Amino acid sequence: MKMTFSGNLELAEIHGLKTNQVDMHSHLLPAFDDGVQDLETSLKIIHQIKQKGAEALFWTPHLNLGSFGEITKGTITEHFRKYVDIIRQQTGIELFCGSELFCSPPIPEKLVPLGNSDFVLIEFPLDVYPRYLFDVIYNIQISGYRVIIAHVERYQWLFPKKKSFLKTITDYSLVEELKSKGVYFQVNYSTITKLTLHKELVPVLKEKKIEFIGSDKHHERDNRPLIDFFELNEIDL
Ligand SMILES: [Fe+2]
Repeated sequence: MKMTFSGNLELAEIHGLKTNQVDMHSHLLPAFDDGVQDLETSLKIIHQIKQKGAEALFWTPHLNLGSFGEITKGTITEHFRKYVDIIRQQTGIELFCGSELFCSPPIPEKLVPLGNSDFVLIEFPLDVYPRYLFDVIYNIQISGYRVIIAHVERYQWLFPKKKSFLKTITDYSLVEELKSKGVYFQVNYSTITKLTLHKELVPVLKEKKIEFIGSDKHHERDNRPLIDFFELNEIDL
């Protein structure tokens, strides 16, 4: 069975793109968050992204993470405008602005959805179950947005293990509850290239419950491969 990512396709359609070859999660807006720190490196990586088949790239700087100074909708938009034309001209890729909202209350009033869509990319603490999970998601949804949880494979609490007779199995009850509330999931491409280390994801991928894929690229040497869109269509589950 081949993997398909309907969310990337929907994002592409919303933005009038010809293909669904969209990297919708990256930290390549120069000198802004914990991603690339200069224009030259950003250009170099984005050239490579284009060569691997991407038609469009979304910049999703961290919002509400607290460690990178004052990041708001205003500062993201301003920084995006500063770089978008030069990078678009030099790489020939379509660029859109978004954010990766760290969901720890209080949540900023002004959110930054992905481009012109109503999708908001959000993340949570990795190791401890956030008790406010459903409250935060509900509040974003009633503000009129669709919610995508970033890199779902990284949350230990989302795929807990439980004993069943003599076997250890994955408990998918939280996954099911989130899906029943219309929450979308995103996986990092690096995880897809080593699925044998993430076997718990395979049933979720087979059921098409992970709608989005992104590189989450930060730096040249961050061990996160760029999405190879030519190979992605060939990976079997
Ligand atoms: Fe990210």
